[in-house]
Amino acid sequence: MKVILAEHCGFCYGVKRAVELACVCGQSAAAGQAQTLGPIIHNPQMVERLARQGVGVADSLEDIPAGGTVIIRSHGVGPSTYEAAEEKGLALVDATCPHVRKAQQAARQLAGEGYQVVVIGERQHPEVKSIVAWSGKQTIVVESVQEAQELAFFARIGVVVQTTFAGALFQAIVAVLRTKCDEIKVNRTICNATELRQKAAMELAGKVEVMLVVGGKNSSNTTKLARLAEESGCRTYHVETAQELRQHWFNNIDVVGVTAGASTPDWLIEEVMEKMQEFDQEMQETVAKIEKGSI
Ligand code: F3S
Repeated sequence: MKVILAEHCGFCYGVKRAVELACVCGQSAAAGQAQTLGPIIHNPQMVERLARQGVGVADSLEDIPAGGTVIIRSHGVGPSTYEAAEEKGLALVDATCPHVRKAQQAARQLAGEGYQVVVIGERQHPEVKSIVAWSGKQTIVVESVQEAQELAFFARIGVVVQTTFAGALFQAIVAVLRTKCDEIKVNRTICNATELRQKAAMELAGKVEVMLVVGGKNSSNTTKLARLAEESGCRTYHVETAQELRQHWFNNIDVVGVTAGASTPDWLIEEVMEKMQEFDQEMQETVAKIEKGSI
């Protein structure tokens, strides 16, 4: 059985950086003194591993004792969080992804230049909330073409987009926004990590008989990879860990594809690859026994 790993899969640059910063904090901060503001990534196994290293998860700054360390995750936060952390005397480790930081700064600049800021993205996503927090209360969030069509007319619209937003939908929304103003300034702040993973997953799903998608069931980017693989017509299993794999999934299967979301750590992918090797070894041994007539 051949197992092929997708060309682009697993941690993106921003998530890798955030997790590494959190690990360093776990090693240097006094035990239990460092906490991420919300789970660092949507991957329960990684969150658990960090907890064992002494890095906890806080729902708000109030949960972090004075003198402690707050780690800002890759989605970023608004300016009031930095101010509140300083007032409370917390040490702050900023793991905001540089791409997200760029979107926040662009939104702030547009607001300063007098544009009506429109953020294209998912309203409830923490990154979108952080961008809005940097550009002020007047900012409008648009999630769909329909929402863009319902907007009033503005003299000047300044656009920023959630880094993980789908490129095609972004273009369609911008096309509508162009009809809603006299002047438009568009910042295409999309990061290509998500798109690369999705394309690679679909390509691989077209070549293999079974696809394994590794990552948190609570991770929207991993779930999306599983959906895309399935929609490509390939039998697909979404697993969080190697322990969930079942040998009978691979009966009479010659080629298996493996991919993983941007929030899936390498060690979980490696464990899946190792387990697949074990299955393959066992299958070969069984075939050899059958051929010898010993079964
Ligand atoms: Fe950053 Fe792109 Fe990942 S914005 S967190 S590198 S998906």
